[in-house]
Amino acid sequence: MSTGEGTPPPQRAPARFRDADRARSAALTFDLRQLTLDYYANPYPTYHALREYAPVHRLPDGGYFLSRYADCVAVYKNVALYSSDKQREFRPKYGDSLLYEHHTTSLVFNDPPLHTRVRRIIAGAFTPRAIAAMEAPIIALVDRLLDGLAQRGGGDLIGDLAAAVPVEVIGNLLAVPRQERGPLRDWSLAVLGALEPVLSAEQQRLGEAAVRDFLSYLAGLVAARRASPGDPGRDVLTRLIAGEQDGDKLSERELLHNIIFILNAGHETTTNLIGNGLYALIEWPEEKARLIDSPDLIRPAVEEMLRFESSNQLGNRVSTAPAEIGGVSLPAGSFITLGIGAANRDPAEFLDPDRLDLAREPNRHLAFGSGAHVCAGLNIARLEGRIAIGRFLARFPHYRLAGAPIRGGRARFRGFRSIPVELA
Ligand code: HEM
Repeated sequence: MSTGEGTPPPQRAPARFRDADRARSAALTFDLRQLTLDYYANPYPTYHALREYAPVHRLPDGGYFLSRYADCVAVYKNVALYSSDKQREFRPKYGDSLLYEHHTTSLVFNDPPLHTRVRRIIAGAFTPRAIAAMEAPIIALVDRLLDGLAQRGGGDLIGDLAAAVPVEVIGNLLAVPRQERGPLRDWSLAVLGALEPVLSAEQQRLGEAAVRDFLSYLAGLVAARRASPGDPGRDVLTRLIAGEQDGDKLSERELLHNIIFILNAGHETTTNLIGNGLYALIEWPEEKARLIDSPDLIRPAVEEMLRFESSNQLGNRVSTAPAEIGGVSLPAGSFITLGIGAANRDPAEFLDPDRLDLAREPNRHLAFGSGAHVCAGLNIARLEGRIAIGRFLARFPHYRLAGAPIRGGRARFRGFRSIPVELA
């Protein structure tokens, strides 16, 4: 089947530097605190160069950047040697602030016992049965959004579709009243934006204000839910509150910060899965045609989109003892950045890694991390991705760009601020 585009798709960005000197120099001088505009637009040539010339790269600030798949997996799997606790790393960055309190209290940036306690409490709300029950409401929401796009003949893939889905899904997961969901996305963008490798005073101010407003909003929501609990099989907030009363009690602060984290974790990441995926199909018309012809490919297609343009590009750990990674010795206390986006393009793991292959098999990508902290919401994200991308494509197979897309301009969370499209 033809996709019927009248205009040619945009040029794909090259995945490698053209000459070896440039690649070597990009690798050896790579500095997460001095990222170039070229890197923000297309980090893959740098990632390939790093893997080739400096796979365990010592950053100017003394930290290490990993770009090989096998090295990242080894770090993810060894929770005793590679800690997620961020207290030492975040103190100089955030000082004595609510941002510091937040990012050092959420489960993702903690080791056992806090990590295990919170993870156990929320796990029961992410069962296959609970996730299956989300399907019909997500389909209804996506179809409403697609109706809006159809009426207007086009719109912004991010604002009009990709961002609207997770706000609703996460809002439902914690049973946040619909009329109160308005500020959630901006709070979430501000709190997670503060995790960028370098922080401007403005980002810091916005992040701090977002944590403050979030805490005060949630204090009221938690009080209301305590007075009138929801269904613990579906409502993560009710579970967390109930968990609080077990032997493994969460303090009020632990409870509130972990709710903020869960509200944030699934927002921008899932928005970017949908946006990056639909953009990749514009760049790869033959793969788009393949998916239109075989809609059943949507499962492996979403996995491939997660691998190809991972919405979360960077992970972090700190070594608790002297360690060796890929033949390089690291002292105890080394800050390590896991290049998820780099690992997911490693030719040692993925055949022809810069090619989008919607039927790729096997596809053991690291988009959701791995090991004890592997994304708790991965099956929710997959479901959202399948429904939003699959239904959009089925309804508007001839969609195309109606203007220049605007990238988010972040290193950790890769995605677009807007993708204007017409539906042809
Ligand atoms: C495409 C969408 C998503 C991506 C790419 C993504 C990615 C990730 C990654 C890489 C981690 C591991 C962090 C680490 O080990 O340092 C993580 C953790 C987590 N994610 Fe996601 N995520 C997505 C969607 C979601 C959704 C929808 C939810 C909830 C509804 C969610 C909840 C969580 C939670 C609670 C953790 C912490 C798990 C732990 O520390 O044990 N995520 N996610």
